[in-house]
Amino acid sequence: MAQAPGPGDTLDPMASDLTVIVLAAGGGTRMRSKTAKVLHEIGGRSMVGHVLAAVQALEPGRVVAVIGHQRDQVGPHILSLMPDVILAVQEDQQGTGHAVRIAVAAAGTTSGTVLVAAGDTPLLRGESLRDFALEHEAAQCAVSVLSGVVDDPFGYGRIVRNDEGDVEAIIEENDATADQRSIHEISSGILAFDAEFLTEALPKLDNDNAKGEYYLTDTVGLARDAGLTVGAFPIDDWMQTEGANDRVQLANLGRELNRRIVEQWMRDGVTVMDPDTTWIEAGVSLAPDVILLPNTQLLGATVVGEDAVIGPDTSLKDCEIGAGARVVRAHGELAVVGNGANVGPYAYLRPGTELAGGGKIGTFVETKNAHIGAGAKVPHLSYVGDADIGEGTNIGAGTIFANYDGVDKHHTTVGKGAKTGANNTFVAPVTIGDGAMTGGGTVVRRDVPPGHLAVSGGPQRNLDRRAPRDQESTSMGDAGPDEGES
Ligand code: UD1
Ligand code: CA
Repeated sequence: MAQAPGPGDTLDPMASDLTVIVLAAGGGTRMRSKTAKVLHEIGGRSMVGHVLAAVQALEPGRVVAVIGHQRDQVGPHILSLMPDVILAVQEDQQGTGHAVRIAVAAAGTTSGTVLVAAGDTPLLRGESLRDFALEHEAAQCAVSVLSGVVDDPFGYGRIVRNDEGDVEAIIEENDATADQRSIHEISSGILAFDAEFLTEALPKLDNDNAKGEYYLTDTVGLARDAGLTVGAFPIDDWMQTEGANDRVQLANLGRELNRRIVEQWMRDGVTVMDPDTTWIEAGVSLAPDVILLPNTQLLGATVVGEDAVIGPDTSLKDCEIGAGARVVRAHGELAVVGNGANVGPYAYLRPGTELAGGGKIGTFVETKNAHIGAGAKVPHLSYVGDADIGEGTNIGAGTIFANYDGVDKHHTTVGKGAKTGANNTFVAPVTIGDGAMTGGGTVVRRDVPPGHLAVSGGPQRNLDRRAPRDQESTSMGDAGPDEGES
């Protein structure tokens, strides 16, 4: 398998003692959602989940997450992704400086480097955080900001430099002069600190500004006043620092994240016929020479083996698809498809489906908790629930595995090399032996011994329904309804 792209790669660990603070206490009212902003998902992960994956790649000594709004949702979610995280509660949001003060108190850290990031920047990569922290440390700065140069700086903190080009201050939109507002170098909100400087600076922050908040960015001015070095290191790929505040921005970032993931897989040897209609979530893993046809969605922890062809019009969540398998126009969840197996068109693989190598789940077939052996086939119009089908067996068209008696679910076993007729019903629990056969239309209520043929229902009767006077004057000629019209 090629290495999975996207957040989650591990990097060489940082040499330094590193603490990362993730700010996730804000409200996110513009989402207009009962779900906390940072829990909204793109690429199969919450926004904060992407940030935590980037942070995890640095293998920091400590991670502190500041939670506030909707913390009953946000806290457990973060803990589930990062069990050793320190959660710090900010009761009311008095600004980023206030949030970091609470985080530092919770971490109890006074040495090394402290990195501060927001919880709503899902495109952020571990490499970018690491490079920034290393630049900050190499330049021996008291504080550094990850900056960017953008066309429209509105709303961001502006990086104010002096004539020598040294950073003097970060000025927030509402506090900036007209001159300062024309500056296009802005703060991403991601900052790095020398831990000792940060600990001393935080209590000195005030909220004497347009928003009445404690601004973390004011630490820059404090460092300058103390004659310390301040760094601003621009990131070229600005989108990595962008947050989503509403669902329009969420969709835009989701599309961009997908574009990046799809592009990375193409560089790793996957053929994608139509990147615009192919969606691959961050947790998916693909082998080289996989072919993805239009309108394919690979979700969750789906894994696809070499030379498999998926699509068109297929969605697979948490599925494992073997090498050389073919899945066309299908939906699958928690299903396993063996090497060289065939699925679809129009198949629904529900959880617990396991199709062995060379097997087939064909057209208009639904399967659930079904083990279908090597080379076995369920080609047409069938429901297979709670069943084992032995290798090489063929299930006739239109077969229903009747697993539910109205109260309980029951199991059906079909042996190896069996051939069952069309339009059968297998009333579970029932066993059909190796090499057995069933006639068309059979309702199998009792076990069929190996090598036996089961038939049910009485012999066919043909009743002549033509009245004597119609026999000469029928307008249907020779073809009565029994022969031509069904
Ligand atoms: C902040 C920066 C600004 C930067 C911009 C980048 C400050 C003062 N300003 O502005 O320089 O250009 O980010 O997007 O830092 N948060 C808390 N608790 C609080 C306040 C905020 O946890 O009390 C969290 C928010 O949930 C958010 C992050 O901190 O994730 C940034 O806060 P926000 O209010 O969005 O800051 P901006 O005004 O965007
Ligand atoms: Ca913001």
